[in-house]
Amino acid sequence: MTRARVLAPGATLGVLGGGQLGRMFVHAAQRLGYRCMVVDPEADSPAGSVAEQHLRLRYTDARALDALAAGAHAVTTEFENVPAEVLRRLAERLPVAPGAAAVAVCQDRGLEKATFARCGVPCAPHAAIENAAAFDALSEGLLPGILKTAQLGYDGKGQRRVERVDELAAAWRELGGVRCVLERRLDLACEISVVLARGADGELVSFAPFRNLHRDGILAVTQWPAPGIDAAAAARADAAARAIATALDYVGVLCVEFFVLRDGSLCANEMAPRPHNSAHCTIDGADASQFDYQVRALAGLPLPAPRMHSPAVMLNLLGDLWRGDRAPRWERVLELPGVHLHLYGKTQARPGRKMGHLSVTASTLDAADAVARQAAAALGIAPW
Ligand SMILES: Nc1ncnc2c1ncn2[C@@H]1O[C@H](COP(=O)(O)OP(=O)(O)O)[C@@H](O)[C@H]1O
Ligand SMILES: [Mg+2]
Repeated sequence: MTRARVLAPGATLGVLGGGQLGRMFVHAAQRLGYRCMVVDPEADSPAGSVAEQHLRLRYTDARALDALAAGAHAVTTEFENVPAEVLRRLAERLPVAPGAAAVAVCQDRGLEKATFARCGVPCAPHAAIENAAAFDALSEGLLPGILKTAQLGYDGKGQRRVERVDELAAAWRELGGVRCVLERRLDLACEISVVLARGADGELVSFAPFRNLHRDGILAVTQWPAPGIDAAAAARADAAARAIATALDYVGVLCVEFFVLRDGSLCANEMAPRPHNSAHCTIDGADASQFDYQVRALAGLPLPAPRMHSPAVMLNLLGDLWRGDRAPRWERVLELPGVHLHLYGKTQARPGRKMGHLSVTASTLDAADAVARQAAAALGIAPW
């Protein structure tokens, strides 16, 4: 395989979506001397407000696509639900990574699970729910389960827990009667994620797995390297994520989430075709972050393996920590050693909204965890 055409620093990189992932991509791109063009309708979008150019348009707007084709040299996405069709149309005019086909898979739980199966990667027992008739054919073995919309779910949204068969119809109606997947609810020992970067030439590098604690369906705490995961399990997760990226001929940064079951076995849960919240601690804990790799993969630059220089613990800072418009008193965490505070510039704090994150680095994970617990106590985040 040959290396893709290299976009030299100075080129303009387009980003579909203007959230915090786009903002951290822009920061990484600008450090390397690239210029950024962000497409997001919101005036104060986190990425739009730091990019050289902010197109205040929807990414489905033909004018946005024309402006990208005219002004950018390559395009990536920071938002998982950019319609694959938009990426396909853009790719006729300039390089787009990740590609439409791979993104379409990551947008659909059914296609994701089919990809896991094709790669020999286990996932939770499940059944597709296309219509109400599907309930009659279900095996009891899928209950208690979780009914999830096949598309557009995130942060635990688009899901209903179901204990008994007779609850299914109501749960499905509550989810809008759309195409769903019913999954058996598994007894999880913990959750981990693998984040990797793959270039157009097939070069592939990955970070050691992250261990993730969710609360109310939203990531709350990440520990890196994942405690309680032995080298063999980490290697299995890594190999599975690599196989999936290769099967999809994926270009860019990909996250694969896994469940670790009580017996130590792994089940793939879902994928994100972009940098992932669980790998934010690579900004402060590694010599290249997931966003650095997103820039490199898009620009066709080399992808040397990352080196973790500091174990890290990441805490998400949700809008719940704000009192009205009043932000937490940051000096209470900034006085702690190894604390890296990242705020996304969002002006409206709402419960569950990701306003920022905080990574604590130290020479050992235990030391980072101890400081992270102090930070959590100072901010009013529940201990883990
Ligand atoms: N089959 C399952 N068994 C047990 N817990 C699950 C299952 N599916 C999801 N969960 C829990 O719900 C969380 C969110 O589900 P996920 O499918 O990752 O959706 P989202 O798109 O909201 O991240 C998971 O991280 C996990 O904690
Ligand atoms: Mg998830």
